[in-house]
Amino acid sequence: MPDLPQFPPGFRFGVSTAAYQIEGAVAEDGRGASIWDTFAHAPGRIRGGDTGDVACEHYHRWESDLDLIARLGAGAYRFSVAWPRIQPTGSGPVNAAGLDFYDRLVDGLAARGIDPLVTLFHWDLPQALQDEGGWNNRDTAMRFAEYAELVGERLGDRVKLWITLNEPYIHFALGHVQGVHAPGLNMLTDQLPVVHHLLLAHGLAVSALRRTSSAPVTLANNYSPVWPASASDEDQMAAAVYDMVQNHLFTDPILFGAYPPGYEFLTTADVDSIIMEGDLEVISQPIQALGVNYYNPSLIAAPPPGDLLPFARLPIEGYPQTAFDWPVVPDGLRQLLTGLKERYGDKLPPIWITESGCSWPDIDDQFRIDYIAGDLRAVRDAMDAGVEVHGYCTWSLLDNFEWAEGYHQRFGLVHVDFDTQERTPRRSFEWYGQVCAAAAPSPDGHPDPTG
Ligand code: FCB
Repeated sequence: MPDLPQFPPGFRFGVSTAAYQIEGAVAEDGRGASIWDTFAHAPGRIRGGDTGDVACEHYHRWESDLDLIARLGAGAYRFSVAWPRIQPTGSGPVNAAGLDFYDRLVDGLAARGIDPLVTLFHWDLPQALQDEGGWNNRDTAMRFAEYAELVGERLGDRVKLWITLNEPYIHFALGHVQGVHAPGLNMLTDQLPVVHHLLLAHGLAVSALRRTSSAPVTLANNYSPVWPASASDEDQMAAAVYDMVQNHLFTDPILFGAYPPGYEFLTTADVDSIIMEGDLEVISQPIQALGVNYYNPSLIAAPPPGDLLPFARLPIEGYPQTAFDWPVVPDGLRQLLTGLKERYGDKLPPIWITESGCSWPDIDDQFRIDYIAGDLRAVRDAMDAGVEVHGYCTWSLLDNFEWAEGYHQRFGLVHVDFDTQERTPRRSFEWYGQVCAAAAPSPDGHPDPTG
């Protein structure tokens, strides 16, 4: 193991990706349009006018990409299924060619001894469902459950960990409030239906997956330790509100069966017209793991007078910065993991770090090596403090379509030349390969990633 603390036997190391960011082939084999196709093609939405039309051409290059993961020696691969490949309009019968693609992918992983960790929703909602109101429409949660069942039936015997939703908070905040991600909405009031229907979709998908698969189920939340900008009451209050929306809104209902105090400001309507009887029971069914995506802390101050949001995010100074200008604060990961343990206690299931990584373009990327090493040390520290963590997936295997930033941020262990599709492993690939190689198998050789 490179200069890193020892992880316990059975701890897994993997890599993460998401469908729209790598697959390309957006009009092939019956795939329908997603909200990201629409958004990326709308003028001025994505830096440089980039789209995911081609991306990493992973849809055609999946076998050699799996060979790369095998060469890396990773024990797990987290990828997402594109809902519009399975149901082009978000409901109705399966598009066989779409489901076949993921079936081959899962078999290809098994053949290489890599555990498939599958995300069902990494933001690419079928456009046809958005046309009916998207997550604002309760029916979308029902459609998601049907989709989950279809995928569970087909892949459920081989998948090792299910992730229902990726970062519902980011999808909500950036996609529905700030409008910088698809579907590009600026909802400044009455946001609770979107939040609630995402959570309901998660809960209904847990039931669907329980019916079709014995693998553990989780969701992947983006958590950020919140630092108040000062000791003033105003800043403390703003920080508490921010902490509630980013860190508790999509976790308390799942682990406590109740929304966090103060959530009512998200609607002007009667909450009982949105949260129906029995919903919180569906949402709070047991999950067997908690997915944590971590990038950086949040420094929060009171908003300037007249601002529509109840908090303001300030830049964090005094730390190294990634190429995306994100501060590098590995201890924030320890803070958030121990914070989760403090808040949820015995209700906290074992954690999987489902994303951690940085944008850094160089092939000789000591910066990324230091970044990942820092986060791994923070994970180990949190484990020493009593937090149970079962695995770590770095974001990302390949440079890819980084949402509103297009191809301008490079998060890959592997560099991708987007003109030729040539893959060039960075130095971090070699280094992370050593980390993977040093992972000790579980004593009983049990392959279950949460076992
Ligand atoms: C996360 C997303 C992931 C990737 C990283 C950099 O918020 O889940 O798709 O874009 O950020």
